[in-house]
This record gives sequence, structure tokens and C-alpha cells, in this order.
Amino acid sequence: MAQAIVSAKSLQGKVAIITGGASGIGKATTRLFADHGCLVVIADVQDELGQRVAASIGADRCIYIHCDVTDEDQVKSMVERTVRSYGHLDIMFSNAGIFNNHQGILDLDLTAYDHLFAVNVRGMAACVKHAAQSMVDTGVKGSIVCTASVVATSGAENYTDYVMSKHAVLGLVRSASRYLGKHGIRVNCVSPSALATPMSCKATGMHPEGAEKVFSLMTSLKGTVLNVNHVADAVLFLASDASACVTGHNLAVDGGYIPR
Ligand SMILES: NC(=O)c1ccc[n+]([C@@H]2O[C@H](COP(=O)([O-])OP(=O)(O)OC[C@H]3O[C@@H](n4cnc5c(N)ncnc54)[C@H](O)[C@@H]3O)[C@@H](O)[C@H]2O)c1
Repeated sequence: MAQAIVSAKSLQGKVAIITGGASGIGKATTRLFADHGCLVVIADVQDELGQRVAASIGADRCIYIHCDVTDEDQVKSMVERTVRSYGHLDIMFSNAGIFNNHQGILDLDLTAYDHLFAVNVRGMAACVKHAAQSMVDTGVKGSIVCTASVVATSGAENYTDYVMSKHAVLGLVRSASRYLGKHGIRVNCVSPSALATPMSCKATGMHPEGAEKVFSLMTSLKGTVLNVNHVADAVLFLASDASACVTGHNLAVDGGYIPR
């Protein structure tokens, strides 16, 4: 018999790491996971912000660990510290990412490109690698979710490096899900279209309300403006047993994205 999709305590007793959990999509997902009974480790480079988010949720449900995902040693030790402290790791939400403006092919700044790839691609791969290793070592049939984007499967005139990086995330998810299936570990991604977060507001120079207005023109679904909670709901689905037979999947959360 079918069960309720995601119950209120669907993550009870589980331990999750959320990279980029100090802000935007990661922050909303941290709160949602904690509300569903999960112990959450925020891994981020914004120490003050991350500590503040963790404290507002409560030390019994959320802690902050400084971790720059571009540094594999930091990722490895953050995962090891989580497993040492809580016994196991069930969920990795690899979400930390950055964005460069004005990266049309003729303007491509390769130094900025390298840094973006270090975070969005190398960092994502390091998080999947070390989370998966800990799950294999402890026999946990865990769930790994990455944040890709609608531009993982389409182009954009001015954001060449960002678009390339999100295509790479999709390749990572598809390959890692094949490899890790034999261990019962699922790997999926969410692909939001543009939504108002500190990252997108900074990139566009718009306030959240203005950004929402502009971004809503890029969706075919009218009357619902995509926000961080919609993405967090999709991540919760992929992290929980409600998606027990879903792996290698790219879940669009885009209100019916209209590429421009
Ligand atoms: N906002 C959008 O329109 C949008 C759309 C599609 C996909 N995304 C993706 O969603 C993810 C989250 O972005 P957001 O919009 O919530 O932005 P955000 O800036 O609010 O959050 C990103 C977080 O990642 C952290 N971070 C950056 N570099 C890091 C590093 N080296 N190590 C650890 N943490 C690091 C930041 O400190 C920040 O807390 C990103 O992967 C982004 O590419 C965003």
C-alpha cells in the first residue's frame, strides 16, 4: 500500500551535511530538514552567518563546521568529524556554489573561471566522494543530492563558465549514481531556475522583490513565484525514503522554465 509522500518525521534519526547551508537554498533546506527530525551539519565559509543559522535552530539539531569545499582535506575532515560525532552520515546535500557575471565566450576571464570550477565542480565532486566513502565504510544506504540548475541542460549567452559547471554537476550525478548503486546509495540533483537568493540578488543588483518579478517572466507557470522553500521541498523528497527507488535523476524545480 502506498504511504504518505514525506511525513513530518521522515528524517528522524538521520544525519545530514548541507554545504552552503548558511544562506539561500541551503539555509532553507537546513531548517526544513531539522523540522523533519534530522541532525544537520552546515558546512560553509561564511562562519558568522552559518553559526547564527545553527544557533537559531538549536545546538541539539544543527551545528556549523567551517569548510571550504575547494579544499579536499577540509571536506574529508568535515565528513570524518560528522561521522565521529554522530556515528553515521545518511544525507549529503552538496549545494555550495558561486556565480560569475559577464562570462560570454569572448569576455571569458579564465582566472574567475578556474575559481568557479574549483567550487562548483571540484568542490561538488569532493563532497560526493567523501560522503559516499563514509556511507560505504559504515554500510549506510544513504542519499546524496546535488544542486545543479536549469542551465545544466541548456545554454546561456553570458554565463559560459557557470553553464559549463552545472553541465558537469549533471555528469557527476549520472556517473556517481551508476557507481554507487551497488552500495544502495542514491545520487540525484535538483535543478532550479532563477530565484531570489543572496547570490542571484548580488549578481543582478536587484532587491529580492525586483528579482522575483524578473525571474517569474522566465517561467510558464503563473501565480507561483519560485522560492527557496520550493527547492528545499524537492531536496527533502530526494533525501527521504519517499524517493527510495529514484537515482541518477535531475529534478527540475523551475515552474516550467522558458529558456531565453
Ligand atoms: N539562486 C539561483 O537563481 C540559483 C538557480 C539555480 C541553481 N542555483 C544553485 O543553488 C546553489 C545555492 O545557491 P544560492 O542561490 O542559495 O546562493 P547563496 O549565495 O545564497 O548560497 C550559496 C552558499 O554557498 C557558500 N559557498 C560559496 N563558496 C563556498 C565554498 N568554497 N565552500 C563552502 N561554501 C561555499 C556561500 O557562502 C553561501 O552560503 C548553488 O549551487 C547555485 O549555483 C542557484
